[in-house]
Amino acid sequence: MATDQLPRDLPAVRPTDRGLPVLGRVTAYAKDPVALMRHQWETYGPVSPFPFLGQTFVMLLGPDACEEALRNADKAFANGPAWGRLVGPFFHRGLMLLDAEEHHTHRRIMQEAFTRDRLTGYVTMMHPAIERGLASWRPDTDFRCYPALKQLTLDVAADIFMGGAAHTSRAEMEEVNAAFIACVQAAAGVVRADVPLTRWGRAYRGRRVLERFLRQYLPAKRAERTDDLFSVLCHVETEDGSRFSDEDVVNHMIFLMMAAHDTSTITTSTMLQHLGQHPEWQERCRAESQALGDAPTLAELEQLTSLDLVMKESLRLRAPVPMLARHAVKDTVVQGVRVPAGSHVAVGVQHSHLMPELWTDPTRFDPDRFGPERREDKSHRYAWSPFGGGVHKCIGLHFAGAEVKAILHRLLRTHRWSVDPSYVAPLDNHSLPFPKDGQPIDLARL
Ligand code: HEM
Repeated sequence: MATDQLPRDLPAVRPTDRGLPVLGRVTAYAKDPVALMRHQWETYGPVSPFPFLGQTFVMLLGPDACEEALRNADKAFANGPAWGRLVGPFFHRGLMLLDAEEHHTHRRIMQEAFTRDRLTGYVTMMHPAIERGLASWRPDTDFRCYPALKQLTLDVAADIFMGGAAHTSRAEMEEVNAAFIACVQAAAGVVRADVPLTRWGRAYRGRRVLERFLRQYLPAKRAERTDDLFSVLCHVETEDGSRFSDEDVVNHMIFLMMAAHDTSTITTSTMLQHLGQHPEWQERCRAESQALGDAPTLAELEQLTSLDLVMKESLRLRAPVPMLARHAVKDTVVQGVRVPAGSHVAVGVQHSHLMPELWTDPTRFDPDRFGPERREDKSHRYAWSPFGGGVHKCIGLHFAGAEVKAILHRLLRTHRWSVDPSYVAPLDNHSLPFPKDGQPIDLARL
């Protein structure tokens, strides 16, 4: 290697960027992750040091650095030790936390639960819960749509994941919901042990609730084949006969329900915000939905092209998972900078979504940028990556698209809403970014 090709070392972190002792830049991240990423990019470039929770992380920004980490050509980055450190005890052995051969084996089995035929079946199962949920909404000039959507996606999940909550009381479902929230919010916990009244303490308790809940239903799911994901995971098998153990089914179910729930709720609520602020887009989407029936099939949902553009643009503006965690298991080089073995790495996909080098007027809501004439997302393979990339790319992206569109489709046919054009959602960024004010909309029935 010529001397000028030798990797550079990580720049020294500036004294002003160290943040608080122990916490580091946690508070800056929680306040405004987008501003923080921009600051890191402008100050240090694509590979920067980032003090966080008592350690210096390496932050990777820009599409080239994100691509290198997510494609992981030299297998230098692992998921397990990275996500495990943030949420590991609660999402123990979820697919996203597995690595290498083991990940490959589990992913191949799980893929069988996400084929097009399966998705077509899940879409059919979604409609009754969506219909029931939206019928229970009480329109109001100050309707808080985020908690309502959270309840709705939970009810949909109860049907698709569990095969209906018929045997489950409302109180039990609420306990399960609280258990999920506790697990997801553990990521930002400062005290990282099972200590009562801390985020981690609540999450440990949450995990126990979820395990008990799933184990109770497991024998019945093993015994009969139904179309819900729980039953499907109990029965899926690859051509060579690999299948999940009871332990695997419980672990994957907990992770899948978590992976599906908040991400889809955030996406739907972001879309509601923008459609409320841009009535011309709401009308455009409504016209397409009016052309279909109440309960479209998967293939019909795919005809909602304007809604698809709105979903992509909403995921660009607010990626539900703004940063992905990785751990360097050996020395490696990213964008010419040495990343030593043992480094905790944060891959800031959200930053690329807002780079003026990749998007015209990047903060503007402009779904047509994804349309066939412009295809701004083609500016770089990793310009838009809300679902990640490489071997860990979201296995549920088509499921998410179908669920979000099925909800919006019915809402557009039954309701109209508006949002103050100057409204900016005050986000809680301690775990995944959600609107702290519940996201008020002016909602009316059609
Ligand atoms: C809009 C909604 C969603 C978004 C934005 C999203 C985002 C992501 C991202 C960024 C990753 C990659 C994590 C990494 O590389 O470390 C991921 C992985 C994953 N997602 Fe999603 N997700 C969504 C919905 C769903 C749904 C609905 C499901 C299941 C029904 C799901 C299941 C998974 C699983 C199992 C993984 C791990 C894949 C692997 O490691 O092989 N996600 N998701």
